[in-house]
Amino acid sequence: MAPTLRPFRWWDIEPARRIELDLFPEDPWSVEMFWSELADVPQSRYYVIAEQDGEMAGYAGLMAQPGAIPDTVEGWVQNIAVARAHQGRGLGAVLLQALLEEALRRKCVEVWLEVRTDNDSAQRLYVRHGFEPAGIRRGYYQPGNHDALIMRKAMA
Ligand SMILES: CC(C)(COP(=O)(O)OP(=O)(O)OC[C@H]1O[C@@H](n2cnc3c(N)ncnc32)[C@H](O)[C@@H]1OP(=O)(O)O)[C@@H](O)C(=O)NCCC(=O)NCCS
Repeated sequence: MAPTLRPFRWWDIEPARRIELDLFPEDPWSVEMFWSELADVPQSRYYVIAEQDGEMAGYAGLMAQPGAIPDTVEGWVQNIAVARAHQGRGLGAVLLQALLEEALRRKCVEVWLEVRTDNDSAQRLYVRHGFEPAGIRRGYYQPGNHDALIMRKAMA
């Protein structure tokens, strides 16, 4: 069956945590981080999950906030994850597209994200969707001390 997207609700935190622990064993999001993000839905956050055959296959979240350019809104991809068993079938693209559509609805003029410099598959996904490298944050991911590549997509 085709995957379906729906809003991320508080009862999705537990299955999302299982995916986090598998995909990001060094620095998984805590239950508190998920709660804190969901507390700002819909004001400044947008979170969706992808379900496949009734089970969580992935999730993604966007933050929209006042931009560095006065009187504008900018988006930040907060998280995007596809469970290992569901990767490589286009779900990451579906989730990212959902975030970009929400960014457009919220009139974001640009969307930003951080991705580990050694995460080639995620970077390829972002480049396919029009993101470009915009800088490096050294040691951004702790405790592993991995660098983050900052990427930006102009929406206008
Ligand atoms: C990065 C991530 C979100 C991508 O999700 P995904 O569902 O695997 O992404 P897609 O399926 O859209 O694309 C992945 C690959 O599958 C390929 N693909 C997509 N649909 C396909 C299909 N129907 N048949 C065959 N291949 C396909 C894509 O071309 C892509 O190939 P490439 O990576 O070699 O360029 C996922 O791998 C993930 O969760 N990784 C761990 C967490 C992570 O790194 N998150 C990002 C943090 S910034």
